[in-house]
Amino acid sequence: MKKNTGLILLLVLVFSSCGKQEVAKNEKDHFIDSLLAEMTLDEKIGQTVLYTSDWTSTGPTIRDSYKEDIKAGKVGAVFNAITTKYVRDLQHIAVEETRLGIPLIFGFDVIHGHRTIFPVPLGETASWDLEAIEQGARVAAIEASAEGLNWTFAPMVDIARDPRWGRIMEGAGEDPYLGSLVARARVRGFQGDDLSAPNTILACVKHYAAYGAAQAGREYHSVDMSERMLRSVYLPPYYAAVDEGVATVMTSFNDLDGVPATGNKFLLKKILRDEWGFNGFVVTDYTSINEMVNHGNVADLKEAASLALNAGVDMDMQGAAFDDYLKVLLEDGKVTEEQINLSARRILEMKYNLGLFDDPYLYCDEQREKELIYHPDHLKAARDMAKKSMVLLKNDNQVLPLSNKSEKLAVIGPLADSKKDLLGSWKGAGEDDRPVSILEAIRKIAGNQNIIYARGCDINSTDRSDFGKALYAAMVADKVIMIMGESSEMSGEAASRSNINLPGIQTELIKRISKTGKPLIIVLLNGRPLDLTEESQLADAILEAWFPGTEGGPAVAEILFGNSNPSGKLPVTFPRNLGQVPIYYSVKNTGRPMDPDQKYTSKYLDVPNTPLYPFGYGLSYTTFEYSEPQINDTILAPGSELEIKVKIKNTGEYDGEEVVQLYVRDLVGSVTRPLKELKGFSKIFIPKGEEREVVFHLKPEDLAFYRKNMSWGTELGEYILFTGGSSADTKEISFRLVK
Ligand code: GLC
Repeated sequence: MKKNTGLILLLVLVFSSCGKQEVAKNEKDHFIDSLLAEMTLDEKIGQTVLYTSDWTSTGPTIRDSYKEDIKAGKVGAVFNAITTKYVRDLQHIAVEETRLGIPLIFGFDVIHGHRTIFPVPLGETASWDLEAIEQGARVAAIEASAEGLNWTFAPMVDIARDPRWGRIMEGAGEDPYLGSLVARARVRGFQGDDLSAPNTILACVKHYAAYGAAQAGREYHSVDMSERMLRSVYLPPYYAAVDEGVATVMTSFNDLDGVPATGNKFLLKKILRDEWGFNGFVVTDYTSINEMVNHGNVADLKEAASLALNAGVDMDMQGAAFDDYLKVLLEDGKVTEEQINLSARRILEMKYNLGLFDDPYLYCDEQREKELIYHPDHLKAARDMAKKSMVLLKNDNQVLPLSNKSEKLAVIGPLADSKKDLLGSWKGAGEDDRPVSILEAIRKIAGNQNIIYARGCDINSTDRSDFGKALYAAMVADKVIMIMGESSEMSGEAASRSNINLPGIQTELIKRISKTGKPLIIVLLNGRPLDLTEESQLADAILEAWFPGTEGGPAVAEILFGNSNPSGKLPVTFPRNLGQVPIYYSVKNTGRPMDPDQKYTSKYLDVPNTPLYPFGYGLSYTTFEYSEPQINDTILAPGSELEIKVKIKNTGEYDGEEVVQLYVRDLVGSVTRPLKELKGFSKIFIPKGEEREVVFHLKPEDLAFYRKNMSWGTELGEYILFTGGSSADTKEISFRLVK
């Protein structure tokens, strides 16, 4: 009897919760239907229009009539407007001065923090700490929503394998498995589990699709690839974001296989809607409808607007194409009212989900703004992430950590006393003077009396006038720390570089300083992999710090002095030189795999095939020893799973964290298969002298891929699995997939 009662209770609970969801959905549908029924065609078109405010600009033009447009009901959303006061003013126009009072949504590029800035996303990914990445997005959403925003144009998830491309700093690197997990974490962080809460915001996965494959890494360049490459490597992170429930998708500037993404029905309808079931709304990138005229796949803006709406775009960012042409396109029979209604509906539904129809000023709470911006918990989270993101690339003779507090240290370099460059590109509402510089942070730990500073050179000039002071500082010091790299504007959008060396005469200065024979530590601030071949031969230690954010200065100092042990691993390959690019770990074997003793094999005459620093690589102040991987069976059958165990011993002098990685190789496929593919990882803390065991599980479906006929599935046969602390340093074991 008891069991039955329990079962009945359970059924009641299940049905009541479904019932509640059903009721809520019906209420929303009824509300939106009624609202749409009241709206004029102009008002429905108005919802599909997104304009920038004049608070800042992130693109070529600013439309200065946006306030009048709001008043005329011709705008559905505004971006680049922040602070509760400014947002309240604009929302007041929409809600109090238009016929139906439909609230606006407010978007902004909250890419790696809002006011409290976290490391650039490539750096956050180098932490391989998904919880910390989610937390970073959560903090960003809390601060952004405290300043009036309810929509971020993030996460950017474009796979990138060409370091010349400036926006490589904005994504999660070269790998679709890691990139997909990072995409999910960021969507969860931004959107939380209740979009109607005042501290959650709509996320926007971008740039759909394959923007990171711009030819030669040149910004906005064409993209061309097989559908197999597109679906296997470039699409998975967008799918992951959609599957995680991302509210919006942004189209990319590039053409793909000859069709600009903003007018690409294959991407926007067949894949995004029909295959993936995306039910949010699609927004273009900045004037990307207009840019189809330049692409040359349409004759004029009117045709571009028609192509965009018919391909599946719902909202036009800053182009005024929908504003100017949808009505006449309807009259010409080029678009239907159903299409306009559907786009307006998708946008209204997101406003409903945000709770804006209940309270349009939900995000305009000045008290929250005061309490939450730069909250100490946020600054701590940013510093923790900065430390987790840094990658120790070299540390000969344990020159790091600096342990002798009475040592004289020369701190040299154009980025040592920079504050704003710590924030990196896409710094949101970050304030340039907020950070503590690396120099200040080192002084704070080591004491002023032990530091001698010289700038040495500019980031990117040929001025050698400060070389003398730098050389003097090095000569009178016990050790030298050089803070080198790129300015924050040398990566990000519209920041491709044709070479990936340290800019200016930085390498020349490093060479001169290294001749003093003093132990030399290089700290890098950069937004892309750099060619560090020369520097790696001159320095005793190299710490990759990326652009570490508001708390980056103290984070670098804490790592250098051993208050924190570096644990980052590269999410992207660092080449020996630009000639190797594109270079990434998951390469194919080719028909003539490299053999140093055979002329006619796949290699260069002048450089090895291997990178300078591989994907997944990163050192620690301690050392880790890996056991051979153990598996519970050498046969993997349908419905079963392999259990893979690997022991890791901390054999050094410091407690530390290690990212244990799992890769797989499919030896024979109906198409050629990569030598390695990342299939799992686990970041674990291991006290010095102790050993831990990591367990991975692998199911047959984890081995699926796009087979010869482009069907997704597995193929029987021999596989090798690899475990280790880098894609290039693994131990392996074989197994068979059987039916
Ligand atoms: C920019 C970027 C895009 C950004 C948008 C709004 O051009 O391509 O990533 O979200 O415009 O600032």
